[in-house]
Amino acid sequence: MKILNARLHNFRNHSETSFDFAARMNVLLGENGQGKTNALEALSFFCLTKSFYASADATVLMRDREFFEIDGMLESDNGKEFSLRVAYDNAQKSKKFTINNADAEKFSSVIGMFPVVVLSPENNKVTFGAPNDRRKFIDLVISQSSRAYMEDILEYRRVVRQRNTILTEAQGKECGALLTPWNEMLILRGARVIQKRNQFIREFTPYIADTYLRIVGEKETPKIEYAPSVPIEAETTVEEIQSRLAQKLARKYNDELRFRTSLAGPHRDEVLLSLNGMQLKHFASQGQHKTYLVALKVAEFFYLKERCNETPVFLLDDVFSELDENRSQKLLSLVESLGQTFITATGEKMFGGVHWNKQRRKFFIKDGAVVNEAMAA
Ligand SMILES: Nc1ncnc2c1ncn2[C@@H]1O[C@H](COP(=O)(O)OP(=O)(O)O)[C@@H](O)[C@H]1O
Ligand SMILES: [Mg+2]
Repeated sequence: MKILNARLHNFRNHSETSFDFAARMNVLLGENGQGKTNALEALSFFCLTKSFYASADATVLMRDREFFEIDGMLESDNGKEFSLRVAYDNAQKSKKFTINNADAEKFSSVIGMFPVVVLSPENNKVTFGAPNDRRKFIDLVISQSSRAYMEDILEYRRVVRQRNTILTEAQGKECGALLTPWNEMLILRGARVIQKRNQFIREFTPYIADTYLRIVGEKETPKIEYAPSVPIEAETTVEEIQSRLAQKLARKYNDELRFRTSLAGPHRDEVLLSLNGMQLKHFASQGQHKTYLVALKVAEFFYLKERCNETPVFLLDDVFSELDENRSQKLLSLVESLGQTFITATGEKMFGGVHWNKQRRKFFIKDGAVVNEAMAA
């Protein structure tokens, strides 16, 4: 798909910004703090109905304003045009998403229709950070490719929050009867989450191996492995996972009372990333981390393209500042061959060889607006 144009109204520091995008590459240039990242965030918000940074909609609302909206036109791979609009009203705390002027019945039904891959410094946590950061990464990829998974994971998270509330309020005292209905839901949703994550990691492995080779161009072998909170093999059925989860819950009950939190289930899963058989977290250099992350994201692109039957748009925020010249150029030509890309940068150095035309356009961003080249200087 392609984003043809977009208008941002009261979105972070953009009070009224319009873009006519080029079909291939769109480079957003400007000094720090001018609103480049905000513009990318708006694009993903518009495609996914939510922010990749902020968890609350009110955060992206321009300070002292009551209402934001993003609207624009998209063209899918098969040439169909969609007019999208997402609007948020702070007084009502309500968000509205419309496709061709019709309300989307559920936000979850939009996810996966307009796939987006974001590569930003925020993602560094995927390779550097805690298990939760890796779970979030795979959850967002799987959610964009499977609505059923998204519903399961959202419901699962709600169940864990409820159980945690019960366990906190029990203050270490017996609360088994209160937990029982939530345990059933945890087992039901949790088993499906584990099974789907297991399947996903197996499917995703060849994608990451392939993209790593394309970017590094040499033999460093990346591997992604699933370490679920209950043991599982490729052929383990969902019923079997359920019974293992049930056993683990029973076993952990006393600890849960003591620690006042949920201790069994896929919110404790780990995803292990390794390079040449060694855990990335423990030994990799900065450059290897970054390259690995880029490979994960390009792999995500190809994975979503196949699963969603739609070419994702690729958003690259401040990526080239962290890679050496050689890998930057490789990455640039690679992403250029993928589909429509949106790239932010503070300088034009990387784009010296680019011919700006209808396919490739640059925008200068200053103080939450698009300005012409002379004004940007
Ligand atoms: N909700 C908001 N309302 C108004 N301004 C905001 C809001 N959120 C962030 N900003 C402003 O946006 C600017 C940062 O924009 P950003 O897109 O991150 O810059 P960059 O061009 O470096 O990527 C800061 O000046 C910040 O104060
Ligand atoms: Mg930025």
